[in-house]
Parts: sequence; structure tokens; C-alpha cells
Amino acid sequence: MDKIKVILDVDPGHDDMVAILLAAKHPRLDLRGITVVAGNQTLDKTVQNALRICTHAGIDVPVYAGMSRPLLRDQVVSTVHGESGLDGVELGPPARQVEEQHAVDFIIEEARKCHKELVLIPVGPLTNIAMALLREPRIVEGIKEIVLMGGACGQGNITPSAEFNIFVDPEAAQIVFTSGLPVTMVGLDATNQAVVYPPVLERIRGIGSRVSKMVVDSMLAYGAAYKALGDWEGPVLHDPCAVAYVIDPSVLKVKKAWVDVETARGLTYGRTVCDYSETAGKPANAQVAVGIDHKKLWDLLIYALEQD
Ligand code: BDR
Ligand code: CA
Repeated sequence: MDKIKVILDVDPGHDDMVAILLAAKHPRLDLRGITVVAGNQTLDKTVQNALRICTHAGIDVPVYAGMSRPLLRDQVVSTVHGESGLDGVELGPPARQVEEQHAVDFIIEEARKCHKELVLIPVGPLTNIAMALLREPRIVEGIKEIVLMGGACGQGNITPSAEFNIFVDPEAAQIVFTSGLPVTMVGLDATNQAVVYPPVLERIRGIGSRVSKMVVDSMLAYGAAYKALGDWEGPVLHDPCAVAYVIDPSVLKVKKAWVDVETARGLTYGRTVCDYSETAGKPANAQVAVGIDHKKLWDLLIYALEQD
């Protein structure tokens, strides 16, 4: 079976780190490049984090720096991942440099080379993807689908209405959802179920490699941040869910919906409005993840981590 060509767009971020490992190590994927955006932290930090993760995990994939701020609004960073974006994770200095080419140019160039074959997996704010679509609308010809982590039909996590990645750049998200490309929204309705409970953590620890230790250390630090937020019994691996879906769509249950993003700057700024039943009279433009097959998800992740 041919490998699936993917670009992973990240803002690391503890769960982005696991998404990078899954995309780079799983044999089903051909990871063409890692593009980085500002989100969980400022761009300088997220780029360094991506480079340091790759170095530590022996991942030989080019890393491209992208947009340093949202299209229109002021920058917002996350508190969950700490000052560094990867608080609590000890990684050495990066062995490779960031590429000279801008992430947006790289996405455009790769899409030009592909004929409806390229899958974009953005797991941070959608600024890089929207910018690529604005700059070169013909990239839709090269892109098979966009599988993004972001949004929520139910409650948000940065405001009652909005999920973090969409809230950071709602205008970019709106461009992506209305691009005409097939979009799968892997949002909080599904990813909030991807809690790393102790038995899963022990399975990862049991792999006993340098990479599994990095994941365990990271999950302990990230888990502490989640615990401080309230009722969470473990860290939540949002971003790997999107990568896992590309590897094996049966990992997630999805429903067709019409999705658009609220861009008016009120209480619901950044909300993904999801309509499963054509209440608004608009045909579906997306699939929305609503559930997870836990066994498949963790088996798939652990298999990838064992490929070290
Ligand atoms: C998303 O926000 C970020 O903090 C995570 O990395 C994930 O992409 C979850 O809302
Ligand atoms: Ca992220």
C-alpha cells in the first residue's frame, strides 16, 4: 500500500509533540515536512520546540517556520503548556536548523507536486493553512483533504464557546472551512475523550525507549497542568487524534455537518457552529469527529512509538 503524503502543521505544545512522533514514526505516513505556527507559544519557541523534539527522537524531517501571528487579531498564547510551550520536558539543543523556506511556501510547493494526494494535518491555529490558500488558491488541486484538530460543537476550552486553536485565529479557520476542500474537524467533542489514564501511561513507559521516556515525562508535566484546570484525571492528547484518523479512519466516529466559524468579536468569537441536520439550509462541508475507539487509538500510538 502506498504511504499517505502528509504535512503536519504544529505549535508544540505537549500534545503536538506526540502528534509529531506519531506522524514521523508510523509506517503508513510519508511525512513530507513539519510546518510550525505561533499558537501554544510564540513562533520562536514553537519552532525551537519542534526542532528539539525531532532531534531527541531522531526524526529526520525538515522543519519550516510559518506565521508568527494570526491573520487579523492580536496574538494569544496558551497557559497549559507553560512559558516554554513544553514546560517540564528536558530536551537538548536542536541538531538541525529550521529550513530557510517559509512554511507557507513549502505547503504551496508540495501541493503543486501532488495531484489530490496531499493530506494537511494542522493541529494548531490555522494561520499557515489559510495563508497558503489565500496566496495560491490553486493548491486545492493538490490537496486531498484537511484533517484538523480544532473546534467544538459542545463547550469550548479557552472560552465557553471556543476551542483554543480556532479562537487564536478565527478568520483563518473560516477560510479553511469555506475553502471547498474536504475538511475533517477533530474537535473537543472527540479529543476530550483521549485522556491518558495511568494504564495507558504505563504501556508507554513499558516500551522503555528514549522516546517513550520523553512522552511519559511530557505527559506527567502536561497532566499536572490539566489537573490544575479542574476535573481532569490525566492529560488529554488532542493533536494525535487527528494524525491517528489519517492513519486509520476507524479510530474516530465522524458525522457530516455544515461548519462555519463565528468571526464577530463578541461572546462567541471563534466558535465553530456545527449543523448536522441542515437547520441552516446549507449542505455539509465537513465531517465532525464525535467519538473515539479508545483501544484502536492507544494501540496505534503505542505501535508507532515502538517503531523506534
Ligand atoms: C489544542 O490547543 C492546544 O493547546 C493543543 O496543542 C491542541 O492543539 C486543544 O484545544
Ligand atoms: Ca496544538
